Formats: sequence, structure tokens, C-alpha cells
Amino acid sequence: MIEHLYSYDEVDSTNQVAKRIINVLNSGDMIWSIKQSAGRGKGERVWYSPEGGLWFSIIFKPSVLPKDPNIYTKLMAVSIVRVLGKSKVESIGIKWPNDIYYQHKKLGGILTEIIHHGSKKIIIVGVGLNVNNDPPSEVENAISLKQITGKEWELSRLLKKIHSESMKLYNYITKGQRNLITNLWRNYIIFKKGTKVKLIYPSGTQTGTVINVFSDYLVVERNGIKERVKPSEVDFIENSQ
Ligand code: BTN
Repeated sequence: MIEHLYSYDEVDSTNQVAKRIINVLNSGDMIWSIKQSAGRGKGERVWYSPEGGLWFSIIFKPSVLPKDPNIYTKLMAVSIVRVLGKSKVESIGIKWPNDIYYQHKKLGGILTEIIHHGSKKIIIVGVGLNVNNDPPSEVENAISLKQITGKEWELSRLLKKIHSESMKLYNYITKGQRNLITNLWRNYIIFKKGTKVKLIYPSGTQTGTVINVFSDYLVVERNGIKERVKPSEVDFIENSQ
């Protein structure tokens, strides 16, 4: 059950709403909006948020902030993949580090922000999932759940399921078992050891092989040399599955 669900027809951004009303929010509360007029993605990019998609933020107020706050982004990515898996949507995985993909197409993204509030730190995890909306054609490689499954989804049911899954995983954090979330996250990552990937350099692209997966970087091998790459430097090889 969602203790407090703040739902709106339209806001600028659910993450921004969360920041404005942070004083009244409890851990586990959600902000949900049918549309966003100023949805934001990672790197301050515009996040196109028309009616039909699922645009929400969930708040965590842990008593102790973990050393690696990325765990909250992982928690959410894992929750979404598990909920979709239970709903029999196949081929959903996490494109390292935390985007939700169907094969080579982006279904959703997560924007986690940490707010310093007095001596406490509050985590706002914003989620954008293309559900019944058609992603705009100018957004490359995006897809919606409706396009994958051929049916309309009930947004409030999907939201409740994601909330419930994320609360189960949050229990692992409060019990000091963050590694269980990291292990699940590793299982759902599409780039596994041995996967051939496209490496993006200023000078052009090359092919490499994944050797190891970490939260902040991948270790890849190219021409017998191992190197670390960041999320912006790695992608799928076209036409490979
Ligand atoms: C990404 O760039 O992949 C992250 C996208 C996150 C979008 C969601 S939609 C709900 C919340 N409000 C925002 O303005 N952004 C996040």
C-alpha cells in the first residue's frame, strides 16, 4: 500500500514537486503526474512526458545514507524489471548502469537526486516509463510498453506494483543487505562478462568485450588491452541482440 500518493494532472517535474514539499513527505511517499511540462532526464536533458506515460518520484528518508547512493537507482531499476517480468513482459533488462531497455530500445530512465535537509539526506528517485504513449520519433531508440505488448496498461496498477516491489527491496537496505540488491542488479544488466560492445571515442567507434561490471565503470578489453569506460562511452553494437 502506498501511504501517501500525491497525484496531479500536470506538474513541471515530479522531482521538483518532491523538493518543494519535502517537509511533509515521508519515506515511501510518491508524487505522480499524468503529464510533466518540464520533465528532466540525466544530464539536464529534456524528458518528454506526455499523457500515457508513467512519470513519478518516490522518496526515501533513510536514517543513514549509504556510501553509495546509487543503490537507490539500482533498487528502482531492479523493481521495474521484476514487476514487468511478473507481468510476462519478456526481454526487459537494465542497460548499464540504470536504464530500462527492451532489447536495444529504451523503455524508461531513472533520475536520482539527493537533497540535504538539515542534518539528513533525502533521496528522490524519479522514474519515467513509456507506457501507453508513443515516444517521439526524434528520440532515437525509444519504445513504450504498449508498442511491445500491443495493449494499454492501467497506470495506477503498474505504479502500485512498482511501489510495492521497491518497498520490499528497500527493506534490504534498512537491514544492511544492500549487496542483495546489487546482486539482483547484476543479473539484470544486459552487458555481461563477454558481451561485445561498441566503444565510443572522440576519434570514432571501436569494438570491445566486457570483462567486468561495476557501478560507475565497465572494464572492457580492446586489442588485448583492458580499460575502464563510463556510461557515455559504451553502447550496443547495432543489429546484435
Ligand atoms: C533519464 O535520463 O534516463 C532519466 C529520466 C527520468 C525521468 C523522470 S520522469 C519523473 C521524474 N521527473 C523528472 O523530471 N524526471 C524524472
